[in-house]
Amino acid sequence: MTHDPPPALRVQGLTLRYGSVRALDELYFDVAPGEVVALVGPSGCGKTSLLRCLTWLQQPTGGLIEIAGAPLGQERLPSGAIRRQSRRHIDRLRHRIGLVFQSLNLWPHLTARENVELPQRVVLGRSRTDARVRADAILDRLRVLELAEKVPGQLSGGQKQRVAIARALAMDPALMLFDEPTSSLDAELIQEVLSVLRGLAESGTTMLVVTHEIGFARHVAHRLLFMDQGRIVADGPPAQVIDHDPHPRVREFFDTVLAFRA
Ligand SMILES: Nc1ncnc2c1ncn2[C@@H]1O[C@H](COP(=O)(O)OP(=O)(O)O)[C@@H](O)[C@H]1O
Ligand SMILES: [Mg+2]
Repeated sequence: MTHDPPPALRVQGLTLRYGSVRALDELYFDVAPGEVVALVGPSGCGKTSLLRCLTWLQQPTGGLIEIAGAPLGQERLPSGAIRRQSRRHIDRLRHRIGLVFQSLNLWPHLTARENVELPQRVVLGRSRTDARVRADAILDRLRVLELAEKVPGQLSGGQKQRVAIARALAMDPALMLFDEPTSSLDAELIQEVLSVLRGLAESGTTMLVVTHEIGFARHVAHRLLFMDQGRIVADGPPAQVIDHDPHPRVREFFDTVLAFRA
């Protein structure tokens, strides 16, 4: 008998409350290795909160997260009790998820190459040589190797975004998370970054992408999760959800978005 690999991500009953606000309300979903999932929903529905919990930047109020089969943050003991993990244990696991934020967060005083090298050395303990070889290979793959010696202030928005993606990829993550990766960019740079994401998708990178780019969701993602008020209200093939999902909030959202594009 063969065993399927564990999901790249498993989320069970994930809940996050800010006081009386239920930012995440018992989410359940898996992401399979190699799967590209678009996460779509109106502003304030909990998309960023979900990505923050998945990287333990925000500790969830309840529920379980597994990265490639390994529990993150807390785990269920054979007795059924839930045990909280140590900070060290969590920090060792967190790097298995690469997060690329909406706002660019490169270190301004380091070159592009140093930005990609440093976390590999500090977090993964790679040698300077190994980290550099890996950094250059990935910068090359994202077509920014010729900019390796520049600091972020000398790069365009799209170039900085590529370096930020390279930095996350260099950590060999089980899963890449993107939070509206194109929202701070102007029109031509949006296409540039979307084409980078498309290339990652085609090479089998597992991704969860928060996006309002419906064309990207439709043509690149394998699956679309639609969130509303902290819940997943639709989960299916992108074209199916975009064009036909009957949930009123889903219809309202896409009918509005698609009307503006016509
Ligand atoms: N640090 C915070 N403190 C209190 N409420 C928050 C905080 N961050 C987000 N929220 C609330 O949680 C909900 C989800 O927000 P967020 O995850 O940012 O949504 P999205 O990314 O989908 O726009 C919103 O109601 C928001 O106001
Ligand atoms: Mg957000």
